[in-house]
Amino acid sequence: MSAPPRLPGLPVLGSLLDVQRDMIQVFERAARLGDLVELSFPGRRGFLVVHPDQVKQVLVDEHAKFGKNTAGYKALQVALGQGLVTSQGEFWRRQRRIAQPAFHHQRIVGFAGIMAEACEVMLGRWRALPDGAVVDVDAELMAVTLRIVGQALMSVDLSDETGDVAAAMTVVLRGTVHRLLHPLSPPLWVPTPRNRQLNEALARLNHLVRSLITQRRQHGGEHGDLLDMLMTARDEETGEGMTDEQLRDEVLTMVSAGHETTANALTWTLHLLAGAPEAEARLHAEVDEVLGGRVPTLEDLPRLVYTEAVVKESLRIMPPVWMLARSVEAPVTILGHELTGPNTMVFLSPWVTQRDPRFWQDPLRFYPERFLAAEQGPKYAYFPFAGGPRVCIGNAFAMMEAKLLLASMVRGHRLATLPGHPVEPEPTITLRPKYGLKMILSRR
Ligand code: HEM
Repeated sequence: MSAPPRLPGLPVLGSLLDVQRDMIQVFERAARLGDLVELSFPGRRGFLVVHPDQVKQVLVDEHAKFGKNTAGYKALQVALGQGLVTSQGEFWRRQRRIAQPAFHHQRIVGFAGIMAEACEVMLGRWRALPDGAVVDVDAELMAVTLRIVGQALMSVDLSDETGDVAAAMTVVLRGTVHRLLHPLSPPLWVPTPRNRQLNEALARLNHLVRSLITQRRQHGGEHGDLLDMLMTARDEETGEGMTDEQLRDEVLTMVSAGHETTANALTWTLHLLAGAPEAEARLHAEVDEVLGGRVPTLEDLPRLVYTEAVVKESLRIMPPVWMLARSVEAPVTILGHELTGPNTMVFLSPWVTQRDPRFWQDPLRFYPERFLAAEQGPKYAYFPFAGGPRVCIGNAFAMMEAKLLLASMVRGHRLATLPGHPVEPEPTITLRPKYGLKMILSRR
């Protein structure tokens, strides 16, 4: 069989310069060439997998043939070490088993109060603002979601740290992508301005996480939260607990993965809603009817059907994790082509597949109604939380949080587009608004 189509690139550098300029565009161009398209980078080959059936093959059916030995995860390890997102194999399996109970349905539903309360703190600030005030929606949401992760998973109040953590996270995510896209970046110990900035940000995050762990050690207490589970877990064979380094990696991973993605999802949701007046009106109508002006509770969730569709539609058009990479660890045949060899990767892109007109009618239209229909198309045409054994552990947590927060926000307020404010997605590890998102707040 002939080779799969290949995205034209430069000799040696392949698509490197193009992805440095505009990563998303490179993936969109590649997807136009077929369902399996080769991209080349210095020293490695990558294949974009577009069709839902092959997305499923990679994530679910033949997941064991794929790993996380990619430049991207290596760059991420500089920040997150060997936490749940970046670890692999038996070690990952054990850590996932330890963390899983913290995300059981029974536990997650217990977080509804924490979520609604954290949002009320933000809404209290909003209520004090005059109509027409401009708010930094992205910063506001980062603060709320960070507070929620702190309280729900570690029983701590991170409100005072929000500004610091958000700034450090931005530096870390941008720095990680920069190192990924510039393979010749000097090692972190070389004191370039960029490295210094990244090291400082990492030091701030490490300090925060270490003090969380120390506090828990000193004050102890049974919280039954994720931090307890991580700190009391014992190896079945050796009886040993996690080292401080492992604990740091897991806690930092959870704090990062657990707030940034959900904040981005809600930020994009508000932006998309502001451009879709019909969907916005229907959302307002549902929230008014279900809540009647109250703070939402767990019991309201099943009735917030359209609210859920709005969140899902936002995750379709603007998936916070817009691209996933996997290393090929054993020969695998995809669409008749055998992929094998060291330094071979596959890319899966929720951005690309979730905007594919073969699976989504009028794909660029923000139309939550499509998630109310009984017929939903191929399963893996939609995978904002990935799938298979490495599906997002916080999937249900994030969906509940997004629904509660969205309903809370639109209950009393409307957020409108600020004319002249540029809104452009920046594909760091997550998809963020490059210039933040400023919106005009008014009371409903
Ligand atoms: C809308 C919000 C979220 C989105 C879109 C999202 C998406 C994802 C995706 C696509 C992955 C797979 C990454 C990969 O394979 O490299 C993932 C993994 C992960 N997510 Fe989320 N996530 C969200 C919220 C959360 C929350 C709230 C938490 C924790 C409270 C969380 C914790 C994690 C962890 C620990 C992993 C690694 C799981 C593993 O490999 O075992 N995420 N997430």
